[in-house]
Amino acid sequence: MDPGLLFIPGPVPLPPEVREEMAKAALPHYGDAWVKAHSETHDMLRYLWSAPDAHVFPIAGPGHAALEAIAYTFLRPGDRVVVVSNGFFGERTHEVLQSHRVKAEVVASPWGAAPDLAKLRAALKTPTKAVVFVHNETSTGVTNALEPIVEAAHAADAFVVVDAVSSLGGLPLPFGKLGIDAGFTASQKCIAAPAGIAPVAVAPALWESVDPTSVEGWYLNLFTWDRYEREWGDWHPTPTTISSNLFYAFHRALTLLRKEGLEARVARHAKVAAKLRAGLIDLGFKPVGPAAHLSNTVACLTPPEGVDPMRLVRRLKEEHNIYISGGLGPLRGKTIRIGTMGTQADLETIDWLLKAMRASL
Ligand SMILES: Cc1ncc(COP(=O)(O)O)c(C=O)c1O
Repeated sequence: MDPGLLFIPGPVPLPPEVREEMAKAALPHYGDAWVKAHSETHDMLRYLWSAPDAHVFPIAGPGHAALEAIAYTFLRPGDRVVVVSNGFFGERTHEVLQSHRVKAEVVASPWGAAPDLAKLRAALKTPTKAVVFVHNETSTGVTNALEPIVEAAHAADAFVVVDAVSSLGGLPLPFGKLGIDAGFTASQKCIAAPAGIAPVAVAPALWESVDPTSVEGWYLNLFTWDRYEREWGDWHPTPTTISSNLFYAFHRALTLLRKEGLEARVARHAKVAAKLRAGLIDLGFKPVGPAAHLSNTVACLTPPEGVDPMRLVRRLKEEHNIYISGGLGPLRGKTIRIGTMGTQADLETIDWLLKAMRASL
């Protein structure tokens, strides 16, 4: 089956080297080669998070598994948590945390708007354990500024959790420098690996503040992952069976990222996103978010007058074999979304996409 050109906001097309790993025979999830790849993966994750002293965990699962691992490990039922929400994934974060029986209060702003910082500071006048927010809102193509949210949370003695699913590796995210306490991402976006690994990073101070015996659960308890690394690290450093193809593909994707360099990769995302935005605005599209907050990894735009976005999505697929996405929630039937993450951030294929868009309006 011809996979077509995948411009949805993740998963993204896999580089040939990563696909090669997926096609290999299965290998053991332990032993010398695994220990080496595991240790290199940890080093590369610290590099990716710009956090040399963070605890990092390549959890096998989707991005939401990582959010749940953070919730299990660092939150307790009844804790007050403030969720900053301005789109689908902010709302989803709230839903996930509520299922953990924390008292999750939402500081909401309309989909497509920037976070409401005044409302956040007011909410933080009540003692709060944690502030959780989405760095890059994949539903609206809005990037939320990290610094003001981290500052407001820390001023109120709350720890900060960042959903970096559609940002890490594509947007600047100086985890260590900003003093972010915990973050998570997913392999299928800017890292350009197959879906199925959810990297978590935790700052040492947050890690050391928790009594491991107070954590419920086993698989999504980060202390289980830590224990295996410490106690079985010389032969079997991960607690369960992880697909060897997936793990080595993830390792290969991180190796490619490291070779390109994080700064160069972020700059590539910025350049390609700017070209796509300019091309689409030229065709009459309008970005949903405020100009200063437009994302370099996901574009979300309303089409020109008279163009039905769902018809456009269909035509691109049927006539050009190109996949883009429609809107989510209240933006369904009103917007299109295009990913420029990892392999998608390529000037030549963006040209191709823009030509197909022009022909499909
Ligand atoms: C910002 C954001 N958070 C969380 C998720 C959930 O990731 P997953 O589907 O891997 O659980 C996504 C998926 O698109 C996302 O874009």
